[in-house]
Amino acid sequence: MEGTQYQQRLSSRKVTPTRALSDIAADAAAGLLSRPRFMPPKYFYDARGSRLFDAICDTPEYYPTRTEDALLEQHARVILEQTRPAHIIEFGSGTSRKTRRLLGACDSGLSYWPFDVCEAMLHETGHRLVQEYDWLDVNVLVGDYLAGLDDLPQLDGACLYLFLGGTIGNFNPRQARDFLVELRSLMKPGDSLLLGADRLKDSAVLHAAYNDADGITAEFNLNLLRVLNRELDADFEPRHFRHRALFDGDRQRIEMYLESRRRQSVRIGALDACLELDAGERILTEISRKFSRRGLESLLRETGFAVRAHYQPDNGWYSLLLAGPDGLS
Ligand code: SAH
Ligand code: AVI
Repeated sequence: MEGTQYQQRLSSRKVTPTRALSDIAADAAAGLLSRPRFMPPKYFYDARGSRLFDAICDTPEYYPTRTEDALLEQHARVILEQTRPAHIIEFGSGTSRKTRRLLGACDSGLSYWPFDVCEAMLHETGHRLVQEYDWLDVNVLVGDYLAGLDDLPQLDGACLYLFLGGTIGNFNPRQARDFLVELRSLMKPGDSLLLGADRLKDSAVLHAAYNDADGITAEFNLNLLRVLNRELDADFEPRHFRHRALFDGDRQRIEMYLESRRRQSVRIGALDACLELDAGERILTEISRKFSRRGLESLLRETGFAVRAHYQPDNGWYSLLLAGPDGLS
């Protein structure tokens, strides 16, 4: 009986890509079989990868999660008073751990739309949320937010869009602009965006955050090889690769690589191909861009937003920006 009651407040659907979406085989063929070698970061996030990311968030070195969480705790009420959402739509929601700061500051009449590529994590989180908040409707959206937003539900009432965790930093500059422009075009008067982004800081702090002492980030990075083995019938041997995360000061970004420990040949069955790697050769698996306060405000302005509030901690390590569609009220 109780289970049925939860089910009534939980739904799930796939978001149809608006643009042609390459699959993992096409991405691996394009990214691995020629140089420079790279893979899109979304492939980290199978069920195991999502759990590893969650474990990264608890490491002492990975400050973004607790910094953003503290900002949300401090400002949740004001944000909700200013935005008065009927719906919260979150891109890359993961475990929605920090979203609970906002949900906890509301008490009724809201539906939550977590949008993520990791279906396992979405369902686990959806079940938890309807049990934790007996007034909440959760409508899980499974899909790739870089494949277009046209199939997102058209919702009556004010929408608060969340893009937290600094995930905008995993986009290259063009992806970030295109994504924000596309999101802006969906927004109605009265809708808002709450964007979390990581800031430039001492490179030693950044380096530590992506090279935690317990090796969880390394395990997260190496998890990509397990995904490739499973999905593409490949025979990557994770112990023959090393996790590397380096800060590039010129490009203002962490670059995360899998580095081959030896000369090796890796068979990728689904591509009917072999990947030949030299000792020390790297595969770029993620960029994580770090921003200045002004850079973030310009990015939002240039993509059609008006910045309404910009929260940061005293040390300036992180930004949480509240914005609305410029030119609409
Ligand atoms: N917002 C959470 C999780 C950040 S981890 C937080 O701040 O802690 C990044 C999340 O984005 C993961 O849950 C991952 O599955 C999701 N993700 C990565 N690439 C994606 C894509 N292209 N489309 C949809 N979700 C994606
Ligand atoms: C999800 N994203 C914002 C994380 C980041 O910091 O770029 C992913 C991550 N990669 C290594 N550690 C965390």
